[in-house]
Amino acid sequence: MSPTPPAAVIVLAAGGGTRMKSAVLPKILHPLCGRSLVGHAVAAARELTPDHLVVVVGHMREQVSAHLAEIDPGVRVVVQEEQKGTGHAARVALEALAAEGTVLDGTVVVSYGDVPLLTADTLRRLAGAHAADGNAVTVLTAEVPDATGYGRILRGPAGEVRAIVEHKDASEDERAITEINSGVYAFDGKLLAQGLGEVRTDNSQGEEYLTDVLGILREAGHRVGALVAADFRDVLGINDRVQLAETRRIMNDRLLDSAMRAGVTVVDPATTWLDVQVTYEPDALIHPNTQLQGATSIAAGAEVGPNCTLKDTRVGAGAHVSNATADQAVIGEGAQVGPYAYLRPGTVLGVRSKAGTYVEMKNAVVGDGSKVPHLTYVGDATIGEGSNIGAASVFVNYDGVNKHRTTIGSHCRTGSDNMFVAPVTVGDGAYTAAGSVIYKDVPAGALGVTRPQQRNVEGWVERKRPGTAAAEAAAAARAGSAPANASVSTPAADPEATEAAPDA
Ligand code: UD1
Ligand code: CA
Repeated sequence: MSPTPPAAVIVLAAGGGTRMKSAVLPKILHPLCGRSLVGHAVAAARELTPDHLVVVVGHMREQVSAHLAEIDPGVRVVVQEEQKGTGHAARVALEALAAEGTVLDGTVVVSYGDVPLLTADTLRRLAGAHAADGNAVTVLTAEVPDATGYGRILRGPAGEVRAIVEHKDASEDERAITEINSGVYAFDGKLLAQGLGEVRTDNSQGEEYLTDVLGILREAGHRVGALVAADFRDVLGINDRVQLAETRRIMNDRLLDSAMRAGVTVVDPATTWLDVQVTYEPDALIHPNTQLQGATSIAAGAEVGPNCTLKDTRVGAGAHVSNATADQAVIGEGAQVGPYAYLRPGTVLGVRSKAGTYVEMKNAVVGDGSKVPHLTYVGDATIGEGSNIGAASVFVNYDGVNKHRTTIGSHCRTGSDNMFVAPVTVGDGAYTAAGSVIYKDVPAGALGVTRPQQRNVEGWVERKRPGTAAAEAAAAARAGSAPANASVSTPAADPEATEAAPDA
């Protein structure tokens, strides 16, 4: 709707945020659904492709500037040494640009760093209405249930905007007005600079109010307009951690709505949390108590949850991930993860592979169809295709100083309770025996065994533990008539828990 991109978007973010009561984090750096508060403001502004994107910083400026440089190096950071009001902040921004020879000719949008629900779409509509009506300034307003603390919009008999009066400076009658100033505006750049030059500080706070520019321009005969926000929640500012939580809930609900409308089944929206960068495909299914963070993606037909926290992780089509934590992992098509798995950075699971119960992986590449089903740590390893790692094994990757790599070939069967002391290689098609410490390479097709031989001491229990239930059972067995309650059937061996035995 906006015919041309704005000359500038100026984000005011110098304020202290004292009500957050944080000793370590400036208000606008608090995270919300995958971005900082100011990150949301910058992302929305960036979508308008302005010639200049300026953020005015003050409080904890080193931290804020460093963060801005990281998330959007194109942001022009301007320092407001002392917070002498919103008008002063805007003036400092214009003067910093002017000092570099940039005079803003065209639309200048001003917004805040602590209004994260404000979308690029709303900003675009504001700039569009501003241009279409040929206004000197257009203010984004909202009808709110409780206007306490906000500047009120004063309208004339024909509904025209006359001025904004701050709550602290308002009369009883003015305080009854429920249309508030969101603090977001589209200005004509040159008129903004002119108006700011005339702003005075004779108000209850002794500050330069940006809001005064509206009255000043109107009295000078310019057009002043307003756009009422479709939803007042779009302009909610965050001042404390209660509002931060409320805003998170609203943003999350919006993200879940989009996901569900795009074909994702969300079993329990109340306990499912998404970040803004999360992507998904239709027929993905998310079970309760699941958090998808950062650039996580869920492909078609994948099932995630319950109780999963996935960060920057790719889940392939048809994969199942349950009760798992993953960070920077890639989960292949049709792979199975969990329940109770921890995939750390650098884990890459192949097609239809498995990282099963109580399995931890790091820097591990698991080939197509390979399985690590139970109770195992795989660190710094490459496993080929179609191999099976026996239960309770450890890829011993750390010698106390350096990390080393283990390589397991394709179609291997490694025994339960193996220690692979890296660097070590097990060749294609090789087996290893249960309980082995594999510290030398196993050639392709060989069996690696490091287990001591078993010795049975016949009759030991009856001699050394007479009178015990064990001794009685042993005696009965010897007599060939085991008591009924002592005959325990052996469960079928788990085909995935390889128990390769040495040749007799
Ligand atoms: C301001 C508006 C008010 C509006 C409200 C909406 C003025 C005078 N009043 O009031 O009409 O209803 O926002 O939330 O503009 N900031 C700076 N430098 C400063 C002062 C403020 O960068 O010197 C930044 C703050 O970091 C914040 C924003 O401007 O992001 C608003 O400042 P704040 O002091 O909260 O303004 P309000 O008094 O709430
Ligand atoms: Ca405020």
